[in-house]
Amino acid sequence: MSETTSFHPRTAPGLSERLRTMAPSPTIAASARARALAREGKPVLELTVGEPDFETPDHVREAAHRAIRDGKTRYTPSGGIPELKAAVARKLHRENGVEYDPTTEVCICNGGKQALFNVMVALLNPGDEVLVPVPTWATFSDQVALAGGTPVHVPLGPDHRLRAADLEGHVTARTKAVIVNSPSNPTGVVMDPAEVVAVTRFAMAHGIYVVADDTYEHFLYDGAAHQFAAAGTEGARDWVLAVNTVSKTYAMTGWRIGYVAGPKAIIKAIDALMTQTTSNPSSIAQWAAVEALDGPQDCVRTMVAEFDARRRMFVAGLRATGYACPMPEGAFYAYPRIANRPDGSPGDSDTYAMRLLNEAHVSCVAGKAFFDEGSLRMSYAASRAVLDEVLARLATFGH
Ligand SMILES: Cc1ncc(COP(=O)(O)O)c(C=O)c1O
Repeated sequence: MSETTSFHPRTAPGLSERLRTMAPSPTIAASARARALAREGKPVLELTVGEPDFETPDHVREAAHRAIRDGKTRYTPSGGIPELKAAVARKLHRENGVEYDPTTEVCICNGGKQALFNVMVALLNPGDEVLVPVPTWATFSDQVALAGGTPVHVPLGPDHRLRAADLEGHVTARTKAVIVNSPSNPTGVVMDPAEVVAVTRFAMAHGIYVVADDTYEHFLYDGAAHQFAAAGTEGARDWVLAVNTVSKTYAMTGWRIGYVAGPKAIIKAIDALMTQTTSNPSSIAQWAAVEALDGPQDCVRTMVAEFDARRRMFVAGLRATGYACPMPEGAFYAYPRIANRPDGSPGDSDTYAMRLLNEAHVSCVAGKAFFDEGSLRMSYAASRAVLDEVLARLATFGH
């Protein structure tokens, strides 16, 4: 049994309806397929997972060692240590221009993923709807369903930019929230700051929450700017759940620290949820995250500059091999189109991605995984040598 099917729960007897209908993360599934092939000795090149190939900075790792040496190894408050909440509040003020009370308006979670899930559980009653602009990171949609809600997919235009007008006609009496993810996973599109403000005002006018996922806020190129949804409009902070993580910014994917800031009542509910589910995130990782947020930030700039160089090189290479590929302004994903390729491949992205994996041993994620068709997501958070080799293989793929 492959790694992918072994954790696919559809056939197990007695399984809840909720989990029977939930597909595993398609990104993680694609990555598992690639690893299985690599174990068979195939020279697989991985552009699947959204994970910086940098090491966690030394000063952050040292903070973790210090925490262990100092015996900071016990349970902490479920919603995080006061020191990390304070560091998050300082960060939100310094970088995003909004003041949050660290004791009542910030909760630390096990990664951005858990922060998002907690938000959904806190907001949704059965049948409540959440507007999810597509293409979207599948997790948004699946977490809404897991929490008992209904994801309402809002198709974006060919430029994949969310505008407030796109939401018109999708709001019903059951709508509870809208997802804003800029820079976007999977497309790398950065919303125009004015549109983030417009979407937030639209949400406020309809009495719905904005779940703003700022995971990639530091990965910006070509002068693109990130707009924090809770800034820019009087009263917006009452309607915005701001989710973020140290995973990507500080190359800390394995440490599992994310957070959410927002209205007191919701944060209090999320904190209570933490007490009944995971309790606190790792005490050691929390102390490391304090150092990440408060310590020197040049490590972020170095990584982003390198990703910028890879982005330009990789997208130029994709175009040279015949893929139509928009230039992403953020995150670390290229989103080339596969339609009308000269290699005679089908337009169906799943089949295309499988062929690419089996024939060229290049692993990426089919657009279908993001409720889209005709594109692939390729992470360029891979070494230049890997990217060069991918481009060489793509040049001959299908010919
Ligand atoms: C848009 C987005 N949000 C949140 C996350 C979650 O990050 P983590 O749970 O590693 O903090 C990811 C990771 O891929 C992501 O792409």
